[in-house]
Amino acid sequence: MKALQLNSDKELNIVDLDIPEIQPDEVLVKVKASALNHRELWLRKGLYPGMSLPCILGADGAGTIEKIGNDVNEIMLGKDVVIYPAYDWGDKQHTSAKQFRVLGMPDPGTMAEYIAIPESNVVIKPDYLSWPEAAAMPLASLTAWRALKYNGKVKKGDKVLITGIGGGVAQAGLAFCPHLDVEVYVTSSSPEKIAQAVAAGAKGGVNYKNPEWYKELKEMAGKIDVVLDSSPPEELDNYLAFLNMGARIVYYGSTGSRSTQIKNMSRFFLKHISFIGSTMGSPQDFFEMIAFMEQHEIKPQIHKTFAFEDALLAFDELSTGKQVGKIVIEHE
Ligand SMILES: NC(=O)c1ccc[n+]([C@@H]2O[C@H](COP(=O)([O-])OP(=O)(O)OC[C@H]3O[C@@H](n4cnc5c(N)ncnc54)[C@H](OP(=O)(O)O)[C@@H]3O)[C@@H](O)[C@H]2O)c1
Repeated sequence: MKALQLNSDKELNIVDLDIPEIQPDEVLVKVKASALNHRELWLRKGLYPGMSLPCILGADGAGTIEKIGNDVNEIMLGKDVVIYPAYDWGDKQHTSAKQFRVLGMPDPGTMAEYIAIPESNVVIKPDYLSWPEAAAMPLASLTAWRALKYNGKVKKGDKVLITGIGGGVAQAGLAFCPHLDVEVYVTSSSPEKIAQAVAAGAKGGVNYKNPEWYKELKEMAGKIDVVLDSSPPEELDNYLAFLNMGARIVYYGSTGSRSTQIKNMSRFFLKHISFIGSTMGSPQDFFEMIAFMEQHEIKPQIHKTFAFEDALLAFDELSTGKQVGKIVIEHE
């Protein structure tokens, strides 16, 4: 089978590999589409913890079950499924287990003709989603869902800020917000992306390249209850300009910078501000999210699709940072 593999020199190539054997609890999925995440850029740069190469990349994917292991119910044969993009969350809802890991390094990922995966990792694909939409959904939407719902505890009437709206997770968060009855604002480096976000339901947005953006946001939005954030600012104290009493800042990434500083901690605790780390989501979050998406027919925002043989161009596209939403690889 054809597979997109990152080799030990961190070169990315389409290679020919054997179709994987399945274990008794596994299914063999013929992958119809896969999607890129920022994670693959970190992997290509060798900047991901626990690098183990060569490996087939890809956490996101959807396809059809072509073969089932002996322990799998026959009813699953031929089913169209979406893949839960990780292993070993563990049995606690409030946190993942230590061995939790994302698909596509060290375990083989979705960017191949076939993937062998435990039956417990697949969910029936909602009919209203096309293959590219189904593949664009798992990792980014799951991350946004848990960050907003479980960790951010968003409730009706809240004001939510989503930073870096061009990102896949940010776009997924934006798609949920109108159905959660919250008022959403965004930041971006691009006025066009802010305009697109407003067309998609955001109340407004500010350009984070402006050093005074947090004051601009306060004037535009008033006080914010939940921040869905992937780019720590140089000084977190600046956020106090727009944070409401009891606000929650949910961090799921560190795209712009890995560090921030707090100059005056007392201003944070006096306002009861929570600072919460959030990583992807549990299988329970995944089921709840898909049910919510199905109920409201929410579709992930797709920036562009590429044919499998052009997969390297898809990675180039992600590196430019010009995307709005997900970059998808169609396998057929
Ligand atoms: N914890 C988790 O489970 C989890 C899951 C998925 C992703 N992540 C992490 O979250 C981050 C985003 O991932 P993604 O796949 O959504 O990324 P992506 O699609 O590559 O998007 C990155 C976006 O970050 C924004 N950005 C860049 N510099 C920024 C800055 N200084 N301030 C604010 N925004 C900035 C840009 O937004 P504009 O174009 O609008 O300027 C860009 O479009 C990555 O660091 C990724 O590793 C974590």
